[in-house]
This record gives sequence, C-alpha cells and structure tokens, in this order.
Amino acid sequence: MNTKLKIEDIVNLKNKRKITMLTAYDYPLAYLIDKAGIDIILVGDSVANVVLGLESTTQVGMNEMLHHTKAVSRAVKHALVVGDMPYEAYQISIDDSVKNAKRFIQEANCDAVKLEWFDKCLEATAMIVKEGIPVMGHIGLTPQTADKLGGFKVRGKDAESAKTLIKQAKELERIGCFSIVLECVPDRIAKIITESINIPTIGIGAGIFCDGQVLVTHDLLGLFERFKPKFVKQYINLSELILGAIQNYKNDVLEGKFPTSLHSFTIKEEELKKIKEENL
Ligand code: KIV
Repeated sequence: MNTKLKIEDIVNLKNKRKITMLTAYDYPLAYLIDKAGIDIILVGDSVANVVLGLESTTQVGMNEMLHHTKAVSRAVKHALVVGDMPYEAYQISIDDSVKNAKRFIQEANCDAVKLEWFDKCLEATAMIVKEGIPVMGHIGLTPQTADKLGGFKVRGKDAESAKTLIKQAKELERIGCFSIVLECVPDRIAKIITESINIPTIGIGAGIFCDGQVLVTHDLLGLFERFKPKFVKQYINLSELILGAIQNYKNDVLEGKFPTSLHSFTIKEEELKKIKEENL
C-alpha cells in the first residue's frame, strides 16, 4: 500500500471497481485510513462540525484547513489527498481561488482540491484547472450554501432540479474536473449522472449506483453525536468506548489504582538514603 495513487488511477477505476473515500483531519486517523487502503482521503471542511464544534462549515477558513491538511498529508503514503476549499477561499472572491488552491498543493502537499457548486463555480474551476491543479466537483446538497438554497435537504427530487444537476455534472466534466461528489441526490438521478459522464461520481447519500462512496469518518466511527443523517452507516460506537475508558481512568486515579509500579520509575535505595540523610 506504499504506492501513491495518482489522479489517472482514480479516473481509471470507473466501471472497474468501486472507489472508496473517507474524511480525515489529523495524523492518527489519516494513518489508519491510509493503512486500510482507502483510495481517497478528503480533508473536508466538515472539520468545522465534527472536530471544531462549530455550527457551519463556512466558519472555517484557509488557516484551519491548511493546518489540518498538513497533518493528514504527513500520514498518507497511498491514498489521494484532496483538500476541501473552504467557503472564504473561493466563493467570496473567485480571484483568490487559484491562489488558495495553490496553497493546498504547495504548502499542504495535497494532490487535488474540492470545490462545492456555486453560481461562479465553472469560472473558478476553469481557472484552477488551467493552473494544472486537479479539481473534484461537488453538487447536490452543498453545505456551504445550503442555508441560502432552501436548507439541508435532498436535491434533484423533481424533474427540473434533477435536470439541473445532470447539466452541472456534464459542465464540470467539460471544464476538466477529475471526479464529482454527489451529496443527497435520489439514487436513480445519481445513476443517470454516473452513466452520462466519463469521470467517477462519489456519492454521499446518493445511493448505490455512484462510482464510489464517501462518508465523514467521525460519523462512521460514532464519534459525532450532534446529528446523524439518514445516509450514515455507523460501523462502531467509539464515543461509548472512549467514554468508558475515560471513566475507568478517572475511577482508577480516585481509588489509587493508577499508576501502579508498572507505570512508575524507581531510584536505588542507597541514592534515596543519601537524600534522606541530608534532611532536605
Ligand atoms: O466536508 C466534507 O466532509 C465533505 C463530504 C461530505 C463530501 O464535503
């Protein structure tokens, strides 16, 4: 698993096997995700919700994203690392988008960046792709602008909005994206999109027909309890296990059961005696 995946490896997986993608925001989890052989690690702006305790992904900026992405990149030997462009990095001023995309590659060692769809998305994506930086698109529910666009709901549930999604996907492919995240899209619309483009679709709440799947790792591990979207499958309840371990530690300290001699350092009797004799 020490061979680093390239953009073309990911694109070539379409119609061969499913692509796996997870989020990571720090060294230890990125290390394990990479060791498990996951294809793509996204340093998502979901770090705002699941790590930093913020309400909205728009509350993280370039400084936080670069800080987390650098830690992830240090751990990864195999997976493609994708940096999630935070709202401020491209949606406030698209002139800044190339500069900020470059920072993800040059300072944080990313292989690609991800941009959520917004009104000037094609313009910003084209500028970044032109600089040779691989871009992953993101359509459907786009959390950075969800509040402005009617809330955190499934997108493409009627023919008109579904046609818009299909059009957006084709445009993103045309402009040079190497893959597209489909978030909260009906499964059969995701199927139409997946079959109408040559680049991989990675679904989250978009059903089985996508070329790959992504989840927020903290949801999968049961490490985030504030809300649980319908599309999440929790594979373990780490919160419960961690809470139990911390309570055991607390009780051991209170009851004098930790540390034991196994966790302590010793000094020779004669040295101790010298100190005692000096009557300090
Ligand atoms: O920030 C994130 O975790 C994401 C995924 C939900 C795709 O964008």
